[in-house]
Amino acid sequence: MELPFAESYKIKMVEPIRRSSREEREKWLKEAYYNLFNLRSEYVYVDLLTDSGTGAMSDKQWSEMMLGDESYAGASSYLKMKEVIKDLFGFNDFLPTHQGRAAENVLFSLLVKKGDIIPGNSHFDTTKGHIEFRDARAVDCTIETAFHPTEYHPFKGNIDIDKLEKVLNRHPIEKIPMIIVTLTCNTSGGQPVSMQNLKEVHAIAKKYGTLVIFDSARFAENAYFIKTREEGYAEKPIKDIVREMYSYADGMTMSSKKDAIVNMGGFIGFGDREMYEKASVYNIMFEGFVTYGGMSGRDMNALSQGLIEGTEFDYLETRIKQVAYLGEKLKSHGVPMLEPFGGHAIFLNAKEFLPQIPKEEYIAQTLACEIYLEGGVRGVEIGTLLADRCPDSRQNRYPKLEMVRLAIPRRVYTNSHMDYVAAAIANVFERRHGITKGLRILREPPIMRHFTVELERL
Ligand code: F0G
Repeated sequence: MELPFAESYKIKMVEPIRRSSREEREKWLKEAYYNLFNLRSEYVYVDLLTDSGTGAMSDKQWSEMMLGDESYAGASSYLKMKEVIKDLFGFNDFLPTHQGRAAENVLFSLLVKKGDIIPGNSHFDTTKGHIEFRDARAVDCTIETAFHPTEYHPFKGNIDIDKLEKVLNRHPIEKIPMIIVTLTCNTSGGQPVSMQNLKEVHAIAKKYGTLVIFDSARFAENAYFIKTREEGYAEKPIKDIVREMYSYADGMTMSSKKDAIVNMGGFIGFGDREMYEKASVYNIMFEGFVTYGGMSGRDMNALSQGLIEGTEFDYLETRIKQVAYLGEKLKSHGVPMLEPFGGHAIFLNAKEFLPQIPKEEYIAQTLACEIYLEGGVRGVEIGTLLADRCPDSRQNRYPKLEMVRLAIPRRVYTNSHMDYVAAAIANVFERRHGITKGLRILREPPIMRHFTVELERL
């Protein structure tokens, strides 16, 4: 008999989680005003709200914590991180920050000016936020296929080179300080970018004279997809693929809470010494001295070890196969999803799941609430609540896709949990015709409303 696939680690420490009753969940959800961000985590059985900062560190990472050097300047933990970053990405200089958006804040303080245009592949919310906050604009140049939920493309995170070139032609190059490539592209469903595409983007950037920055939160998962889907990479080690990917970048921002498998942390990598020196000033102002940024020594140690483990093939295979395992289970029940499955999450297609709910009643949020009520499983709405209101007209912006994201924390849940999640969602799918009413907003803040909005059932 062929031996089946199994996880590349065993469990050394556990954290109890508790199942609840439907009645309890009804009460808790009502008290949380139908916003899953307002729930206490102990009211959740399987928490798929995010894969950010929710991973389980390894025994080696925990032992590295004990070796942290907490010196203000020149700590050995900083030097260790510098060495790992240089080895993995090829960047000589880096600045530690407390998380990904802090890296964006520091780097964009240097690079982004009022009126600038920043092309990229479906920029992440905080990236876009930091661009728009500086009165600049993010222009989405993702390939068209990315907007068709079930159309197959191995690299749905790719940048459309024609769209990109049009943007570069339309504006003076001084107005385009950089192109941002997000690896994998979270907003378009955790979809990867091919090496070929990275190479082409880099060539165009150099032709026009601008920078390429990689938003690197899930760079290792992207490398796994290059290895398994792109011709010529099957035999290459992940670390070599990562090195080649970053030969096409001038710098990187990193949320280490994802592929570096730590609970907090981030950094900026620089290919250019002068850019590093200029950005250092902002780092000192916003984050901390250049050798610790927003991080303690122990956290830098765990992060360095996490980068090493996060780029091991066996780990990545376990990780990506678990996400696909959940996807396949849901598919066997006919649940509509975004395909191919993402690296870090499954995205449910809420409009197809609940076609009877009008868009004014928050389709994806309605679905996310039903899934919580069914089994205590928490996902996150990627729909009208997240898209927010138009700043000028104050009208709701209705996005093309209404989705519920089920993001899988790294090394945290077993496949039995995935079976449980799939069964809960299959049950909701079976009774979907009985769900005839959505939600109504009671109170909302002026921006970033999805975190704190309060709703009621219609
Ligand atoms: N870039 C990408 C692609 C991200 O997915 C995130 C965070 C960030 C930047 C910001 O990093 O949270 O460390 O400040 N994504 C989380 C998520 C929040 O749930 O997808 P951060």
